[in-house]
Amino acid sequence: LKFALLLPAAGSGTRLGSALPKALVEFAGEPMFVRALHPFLAFESLAAVVIAAPREHLSAFRDAVGELNARVEVRVIAGGETRQDSVGLALDAVQFFAVGAVLVHDAARPLVNTATIQRVLDGLDRDVVAVLPGLPVSDTLKAASGDPLLVTATVPRDGLYAVQTPQGVRYDAAVAAHQRARAEAVQCTDDVALIERFGLGRVRICEGDTLNFKITSPADLRLARLLAREP
Ligand code: CTP
Ligand code: MG
Repeated sequence: LKFALLLPAAGSGTRLGSALPKALVEFAGEPMFVRALHPFLAFESLAAVVIAAPREHLSAFRDAVGELNARVEVRVIAGGETRQDSVGLALDAVQFFAVGAVLVHDAARPLVNTATIQRVLDGLDRDVVAVLPGLPVSDTLKAASGDPLLVTATVPRDGLYAVQTPQGVRYDAAVAAHQRARAEAVQCTDDVALIERFGLGRVRICEGDTLNFKITSPADLRLARLLAREP
């Protein structure tokens, strides 16, 4: 099964609070998005990479991509208003590559490893249309509201999973999901949520990785930089 990597990297990183877009922030000696896509280049079945970047920073992304010497075509396109729009635009750019699946991976998860990518690819068999890495929720969950913030209930965490990327989606299902989302102006937080919403097929969770967290806050960046220094 040939796949394309779609890398949504068009966010500004408001919560990180840096002057540069988050995907261009320096991480272990390279831009964060380069680090996030690197482990995917090791896969024989990778056919193409499409990166959705902020429109005002396309040349900085293209310069970094030029230094990659990748075996496959790595295309940089302008992203959209939301993550879903950015993934939809990246998906449009994939149509000429004849792939069976896409893997969508946040540029903000630079600590992804090849074992996680392999589990996602292995999980994409005939019986499911999408696979995503997830970890059982280990914290106790409380529902709360108001000011002062008052607890209203304890939410049972049995059967709840915190999900990550890369999310693998069969190409036909991904196209169908995004076409319908555009037609009906539906926005979801991830692509798999669109698959669920439109009932396009079964979605499977594979084992996630605690270290593959998303860099959202300055504390996340500090932690990830420490981890990247380890052998
Ligand atoms: N993303 C994107 N296009 C957007 C918004 C987000 O491609 N319009 C990407 C981000 O670049 C990131 C991933 O989606 O790699 C996950 O989003 P998030 O962590 O929320 O990043 P930002 O939106 O940049 O951060 P913030 O919400 O703090 O502004
Ligand atoms: Mg965001």
